[in-house]
Amino acid sequence: MDNIISASILSANFAQLERQILECEQAGVDWIHIDVMDGHFVPNLTMGPFIVEHCRRITNLPLDCHLMVEKPETLVRDFANAGASVITIHPEVNPNVHRTVQLIQNLGCKAGVALNPGTSHFVIESMLDFLDLILIMTVNPGFSGQVFIPEMTKKIQAVSEMAKKQNNNIYIEVDGGISASNITEVRQAGANAFVSATSIFGHPKGITAGIHDLRQALVK
Ligand code: DX5
Ligand code: ZN
Repeated sequence: MDNIISASILSANFAQLERQILECEQAGVDWIHIDVMDGHFVPNLTMGPFIVEHCRRITNLPLDCHLMVEKPETLVRDFANAGASVITIHPEVNPNVHRTVQLIQNLGCKAGVALNPGTSHFVIESMLDFLDLILIMTVNPGFSGQVFIPEMTKKIQAVSEMAKKQNNNIYIEVDGGISASNITEVRQAGANAFVSATSIFGHPKGITAGIHDLRQALVK
């Protein structure tokens, strides 16, 4: 599978969202990552389907929606209608993950399951056959700009070995503290989709330079 770079707009300048998303697109980003936080599951409150709808008008790139919310099953339909391409939920707040994954796929979207750093990857073992994406959180979710947790490299390796046995077509996405200096390490561990907010929108030379740095590090 090709390496996917997913730009998290959590660190974008929202007064210039359209311009910044178009710059991401021109610089060759693959997906736009939208971090949805409810102030309960994570201590931050961010974007809802309304923002997804606006992003959909700006770009045709896949919209990679990461739902850090309680009761995600009550919201997935709104995100699908707003134009989401991938919808990822957390099992920590959704006891019936299997049902929600099926609902997401029936709505025509790719379905992902995200694992917090403290959540065992065995939670998804029985769903690997039909999951489209596994998101391994490499920080505790809630904010951009946090430091990558080094112990997560082993978890990426374990997930990728487990996944290879059952489903070669699955995205193994990493999210949190990903930069040009650790992207090679996580790729070697088995990740094939890389979320980044700070290394793109906070790059001292701008968005395009941030995306190029990540891409360069990936092809090394
Ligand atoms: C964290 C979010 C991430 C965040 C990544 O809770 O899920 O997607 O935006 O930000 P950086 O790349 O700055 O760690
Ligand atoms: Zn995210």
